[in-house]
Amino acid sequence: MDLKLSNKIAIVLAASKGLGKAIATILADEGATVIISSRSQEQLDATAEEIKKETRRSVTAIAADVSNPAAIESLIKQVADKFGAIDILINNTGGPPFDKFENFDDAAWKKAFDDILLAFARNSRLALPYLKKSDSGRIINIVSGSVKAVLENSVLSTAMRMGVVGMAKMMADEFGPYNITVNNVAPGFILTDRIKHTIPEGKDPDQAIKEKAKNIPLGRIGQPEEFAAAVAFLASEQASYISGVTLQVDGGGSRAIY
Ligand SMILES: NC(=O)c1ccc[n+]([C@@H]2O[C@H](COP(=O)([O-])OP(=O)(O)OC[C@H]3O[C@@H](n4cnc5c(N)ncnc54)[C@H](OP(=O)(O)O)[C@@H]3O)[C@@H](O)[C@H]2O)c1
Repeated sequence: MDLKLSNKIAIVLAASKGLGKAIATILADEGATVIISSRSQEQLDATAEEIKKETRRSVTAIAADVSNPAAIESLIKQVADKFGAIDILINNTGGPPFDKFENFDDAAWKKAFDDILLAFARNSRLALPYLKKSDSGRIINIVSGSVKAVLENSVLSTAMRMGVVGMAKMMADEFGPYNITVNNVAPGFILTDRIKHTIPEGKDPDQAIKEKAKNIPLGRIGQPEEFAAAVAFLASEQASYISGVTLQVDGGGSRAIY
């Protein structure tokens, strides 16, 4: 299927690794003009080079910390100045720490708010004037399966991402008249560095991943490309009538019925 992305300008945040990188790769492969961002310019340049090798398409790499308002303002301006449009915004960032509720103080809660809910709100607000001018604007938020079913030690992620889900529903309502769709994609257990870092020291990584995957109906951990394919579909012209939803990509792993 041709996703009809060849004349689209797409910003993918937090894209030097993991899910963001896989999303940037598939969007570039589908012909979109892709701008990737994350904190380290060096890492981003290396990622841009890898994507170019894989897709034979150049991507633009602009460093920005999604939690830094000035950096994001500058990123959006640079993209708008250079490409004249923004059609697709992929809101993504690094994940907050895992721990029990009682171990997080006010500073940890404030940081999680700044890094996730406030950052996604700000990015969307800054991109909105350009998305309104697109004939098919897209905002896609990368959240977590924890917005659908309890995930141990994920209170910061769950609380902030439930906020993102609520905000996305409001945005879908308000931006619909501009033909902008707003959706969330919720990864279950997808093999990236974030997941690798949760494996306890001294444990065999393959064994640990097999153990974690044993309750997933498809019997395995997901690959970033499988997750990115769902995001690319939501970014496509074909997904023009899907808005305000949270799509789980988890191999059937969630124990929730709806
Ligand atoms: N993988 C999963 O199974 C899974 C499951 C549930 C939820 N998630 C969520 O999905 C998101 C992406 O996860 P991932 O697995 O792809 O993680 P990852 O492999 O650790 O990659 C994180 C990416 O985010 C960038 N980043 C981190 N903090 C940033 C910031 N403040 N500003 C800009 N870029 C930043 C990193 O680059 P720099 O460090 O260079 O900035 C890197 O490119 C996370 O929020 C994670 O919690 C993932």
